[in-house]
Amino acid sequence: MRIAATADLHFTAQRYTALRDQLHKVRDEADALVLAGDLTNYGQPDEMEPLLNALVRLRIPIIAVLGNHDYESGREADLMRMMTAEGIKVLDGSAYERDGVGFAGTKGFVGGFGRGVLTAFGEPEIKAFVRASIDEALKLERAMSQLRTSKRVVVLHYSPVAATVNGEAAEIYPFLGTSRLAEVVDRHGADLVLHGHAHHGKPDGTTTAGIPVRNVAITLLQSQQPSAVYRVFDV
Ligand SMILES: [Fe+2]
Ligand SMILES: [Fe+2]
Repeated sequence: MRIAATADLHFTAQRYTALRDQLHKVRDEADALVLAGDLTNYGQPDEMEPLLNALVRLRIPIIAVLGNHDYESGREADLMRMMTAEGIKVLDGSAYERDGVGFAGTKGFVGGFGRGVLTAFGEPEIKAFVRASIDEALKLERAMSQLRTSKRVVVLHYSPVAATVNGEAAEIYPFLGTSRLAEVVDRHGADLVLHGHAHHGKPDGTTTAGIPVRNVAITLLQSQQPSAVYRVFDV
């Protein structure tokens, strides 16, 4: 299966117009399109509506997770409903199988990487923060344990590894993802992990177990040579 992937569209009509011609090639180049979060800027239904109008015209199956921006207005449930109504498969701690390929997805959360992972110690506020990070890892665990396919793709918004956020300011690494997510991926096994959020990170990384991690934030893809608005993977 050829899977096209992009993230961080941060929809505005103007931004989308600039992408439209390139994006319309996707149905010739791929069998499915993955959107790895931050579809909108402020998580407003009136941002999602015109985006959905544009996405249905791509006439390709779409699998998506939400990003932090899609939560900004507290309307994430409405956004998921709108997307689902248009036939988009929204993954939120859930799994989806299509043509023998399993997709497991969740938004993920922040928390840091490797030795720098924040642990639940001290003030209740720290514990609540870490709890949110652990909860997203558990959601991914649940999603991955549902997959029965030999081919598996993990879809996240936040990064599971530091390698693909490298290029962003070191001070914000802990806010770009957490390796708690990678631990789950390595335990269950996958062929490919896709994420966004780190707009100025690096395209390629791997988990400790060697599973490929790809940052498909659109700004990053556009900054590559040749410039692109999505990347296609053969799984
Ligand atoms: Fe973003
Ligand atoms: Fe984001």
